[in-house]
Amino acid sequence: MPKRVRPPLLLSAAFVIFLVAAFASVRSPVRAAAPQTPGQGQKSVADGVYTDAQRTRGQQIYTTECADCHGADLNGSDTAPSLSGVEFVGAWKGTTVDELFEKIRTMPPTSPGKLSPPQSADVLAFVISRNNFPAGPTELAADVAALKGIRFEGAQGAAADVPAPNRSVLDGVYTEEQNRRGQAIYANSCASCHSASLAGADVVPALVGADFLGKWTGATAGELFERIRTTMPQASPGSLSPQEYADIVAHIFNRNRFPAGRAPLDGDLAALRMIRIETSKR
Ligand code: HEC
Ligand code: HEC
Repeated sequence: MPKRVRPPLLLSAAFVIFLVAAFASVRSPVRAAAPQTPGQGQKSVADGVYTDAQRTRGQQIYTTECADCHGADLNGSDTAPSLSGVEFVGAWKGTTVDELFEKIRTMPPTSPGKLSPPQSADVLAFVISRNNFPAGPTELAADVAALKGIRFEGAQGAAADVPAPNRSVLDGVYTEEQNRRGQAIYANSCASCHSASLAGADVVPALVGADFLGKWTGATAGELFERIRTTMPQASPGSLSPQEYADIVAHIFNRNRFPAGRAPLDGDLAALRMIRIETSKR
C-alpha cells in the first residue's frame, strides 16, 4: 500500500526546514564572533543528541524517581521546579549539558547518587526531549567531557513547531480488525514471555493494568511503538514490520480497554506521536 502523506505533515516538515535554515543563518555569525575553544560547545541540543530508545528508558526512570516532585508532565509542583518550558530553557540556555547532567546527579535530593551515570544520562535525554529538542542517531553519553561539547540552546522557536499530540487513545485510534491481527502476531512473538493475557510473569512486566498504564500515561503511542520496535521481541528486536508492530500496539490498547474506532493505527512514527496515552480526559 502506498504510504499516505498528509498535507499538514508536509507543511510542518517544510516549516521545520525553514526554521532550521533561518536558525543556522542567524546563529553562525554569532558563533564566529564568540571566542571559543576548539572542540567545545560545537554541538547543540537541537542537533539530535539522544535516541528515541534512550528517551523512552529515561521516561521510565523519570516516572519512578522524579515525577512525584517534578510532576508527570515536568510542570513542577509546590515542592519542585518545572523541568520544561520557557523558564526552564531560559535558565539553562548558554550552559553546556554536563551542568544539567551534574545537577541531575544530585537528584533525587533525598538520595543523590541513586541513579547510575547512564541512568542519569537517560533521564537527561528525556528532559531534553520534553523541551522539544529532536532525537537523533546516537545516544547521549554518560561522559562529562562529551557532554561539555553540547550546548543547551534556547531554541524554543524550533521547539514550538514539533507538533504536540492532538489525539488520545480514548478517541478510538485502531480498528477491531487490526486488534485481531495484532492478537495473532502477539501470540506468535510476545505471548511466550508476556503471557496470552498480557499479564506478564516473573521478571516479564505486564502490558495491561495499573502499573503498565502508570508508566506510559503521558507518553505517546509513538514512544510505546518505538520502545517495542527497538527492544522486542527480546531475542530479535526490530524483526517485525512497522505495520505489525502497530497492530500489536492496537492489541495492547484493546486489552487496556481503549476503544476501537474507524481507522487503523498506522506504522508511521510521526502519526503515532500525535496520539497521547491517557486513562481519562483532562
Ligand atoms: C523529593 C522531591 C524531588 C525529587 C524526587 C526530584 N527532585 Fe529535582 N528538584 C527538587 C527540588 C526541591 C529542586 C530545587 C532545588 C534544587 O535545585 O536543588 C529540584 C531541582 C532540580 C533540577 C534543577 C532545575 C532548575 O531549573 O534549576 C533538575 C534538573 C532536577 N531537579 C531534576 C530531577 C530529576 C531528573 C529527578 C529524578 C531523578 C529529580 N529531580 C527528582 C526536588 C526533587
Ligand atoms: C524472551 C521474552 C520476551 C519476549 C518474547 C518479548 N518480551 Fe517484552 N519484555 C521482556 C522483558 C524481560 C521485559 C523487561 C525488560 C525490558 O524492559 O527490556 C520486557 C519489556 C517489554 C515492554 C516494556 C514494558 C513496560 O513496563 O514498560 C514492552 C512494552 C514489551 N516488552 C512488549 C513486548 C512485545 C510487544 C513483544 C512481542 C513483539 C515482546 N515484548 C516480546 C521479555 C520479552
